[in-house]
Amino acid sequence: MTTTATINLTDRAFLLAAVRAQDPTLNQTLRQAARARCDEIFGREVYLRGLIEFSNICRRNCAYCGLYTGNSNIERYRMTPEAIVERAGVVRDLGFATVVLQSGEDPWFTLPILCDIVRRIKAETGLVVTLSIGEMPFGDYKALREAGADRYLLRHETSNPELYAKLHPGHTLATRLDCLKSIRDCGYELGTGFMVGLPGQTDEDLLADLDLLVKLQADMVGIGPFIANPDTPLAGSADGNIEVVLNLVALIRLLLPGANIPATTALDSLRSDGRELGLNAGANVVMPIMTPPDVKTQYRLYPNKRCLDHDPTVCSGCTRRRLEAGGYTHSFNPGWSKQRQMP
Ligand code: 5AD
Repeated sequence: MTTTATINLTDRAFLLAAVRAQDPTLNQTLRQAARARCDEIFGREVYLRGLIEFSNICRRNCAYCGLYTGNSNIERYRMTPEAIVERAGVVRDLGFATVVLQSGEDPWFTLPILCDIVRRIKAETGLVVTLSIGEMPFGDYKALREAGADRYLLRHETSNPELYAKLHPGHTLATRLDCLKSIRDCGYELGTGFMVGLPGQTDEDLLADLDLLVKLQADMVGIGPFIANPDTPLAGSADGNIEVVLNLVALIRLLLPGANIPATTALDSLRSDGRELGLNAGANVVMPIMTPPDVKTQYRLYPNKRCLDHDPTVCSGCTRRRLEAGGYTHSFNPGWSKQRQMP
């Protein structure tokens, strides 16, 4: 095996070696280069976003996800619009400039209700609003954008159409990509991403995932290891490999230098220092969970989510301490994407 570690993003052999992550020299060189690139653009500042998981009710049947319709082992909850707006106020009072509203695809939240929530949060808190609430028709994305939503997160999950269809019975990658196009056309900052180590996913698939991110010129990219959830059809499958995830974070930083890349919760679930490793590989965003404590434990996409027994307001302080210990500073800057300003 070669231990040369010359970074060449146009060389498929290099990219394949990077996604295999079996060469420690290559891993280290790649992650250091990505961190250095991140330092040039964002410095040591890590943007914080407050995440509110407002409903775990979902009409979809994604085979990997604990919220899938067939899972009767979680208690379903739905926050009221009033509670969501109030919680956004807590997020603002803690100093955050951005709130991320995430949920399953819960049909109770009709377009008028969602638009009203967004309008009220904008009017009452002035927060930047990111939505992560799944697939919808173009007109709905447009209406929510007009109501004031600024960013939209919708991971493509995997760019392999057959694997996508297998994991999402009755759904297609083509529809997912149409949604991403709509989101872009409506003028949102566009966030997407994928899981690493899905059963049946190949190294070539991961390279195609990277190609897709570049093609979309994503403003935000969230990736994380697949973590087998015992309450899903994929129970007992092997988890994704953290070394592979970290190399992919680094590659994404080098391919999309100005994008916002979170060190994701899934990374932190696989290893207690997962977040720090993600930042050291080129991530620049952390999204502390600000979901109210009484429902937080029921938003279980995968096992081992950390700090589920803590009040989210405690997590905010803990996050800052962890960042400082790792040589980073927290930033309450709204943290707009720099990707579209890149040469
Ligand atoms: N392991 C890792 N990530 C998961 N997600 C859902 N289920 C799992 C799992 N078992 C991710 C998906 C989704 C995001 C909110 O969480 O990528 O888009």
